[in-house]
Amino acid sequence: MKKSLVFVLAGAVWLTGAAVMAQGPAGGGQQAPMDLKVLPKTWSRQQVGALMQAINTSLGVQCSHCHAEDPDAPPPLPGQNPRLDYALDTKPEKEIARAMIKLTMDLNAQARQPGDDPSVEKISCYTCHRGKATPDKEPEGGWGRGSFSLTEAGPVVPQRGRGAGRGGPGGGN
Ligand code: HEC
Ligand code: HEC
Repeated sequence: MKKSLVFVLAGAVWLTGAAVMAQGPAGGGQQAPMDLKVLPKTWSRQQVGALMQAINTSLGVQCSHCHAEDPDAPPPLPGQNPRLDYALDTKPEKEIARAMIKLTMDLNAQARQPGDDPSVEKISCYTCHRGKATPDKEPEGGWGRGSFSLTEAGPVVPQRGRGAGRGGPGGGN
């Protein structure tokens, strides 16, 4: 009985060793290096993957919104999604997303106050996108009495309460 326990333990050690070897020396890094142009090149696949999940949630999309299908992959089995080649840059959404990542990095750099923890982001994709691929440009009911322009002044908004006699002392009318 003792002998068989030793055998089982030895087998477990061997299996563990084989699993570690299969992961490669860098612990899961047997794939080609990533082609990161805006994210820090020091990030691991796991770190990039976690951000990508957050991007999916922020925009309410799937990975295939930005990543193209692998042209060398065999056709997917019925009910399965086609395999994606994450390093391909063929979809315009991926290039827009690169610009958006840079924008979000710049916004965070500008929003940071002295004493803030630089590793805590104030602005994320979700801040603007709110689960939509294309964010809303104005409130659902329009701008109401206002307008929004930072380059040229918009139309002048009628003075509040004018003629109606409510709101304000009514001195100017
Ligand atoms: C809104 C667009 C967008 C979505 C959605 C998205 N990605 Fe990405 N992904 C990018 C961009 C942009 C890069 C390149 C970042 C860079 O250049 O620094 C990238 C890079 C990657 C990379 C590194 C590829 C390489 O080898 O260079 C992987 C892996 C990846 N994404 C996986 C995913 C997965 C998995 C999902 C879904 C969970 C996903 N992405 C969803 C935009 C997206
Ligand atoms: C400051 C607000 C803001 C932030 C932050 C932001 N976006 Fe955007 N994003 C926009 C706006 C506005 C548009 C639409 C631009 C247009 O209409 O041309 C857009 C469009 C996009 C598009 C193109 C969608 C389409 O309509 O085809 C992608 C992809 C995208 N954003 C990805 C991202 C990702 C990924 C992040 C986070 C890394 C991000 N965005 C952060 C405001 C933002």
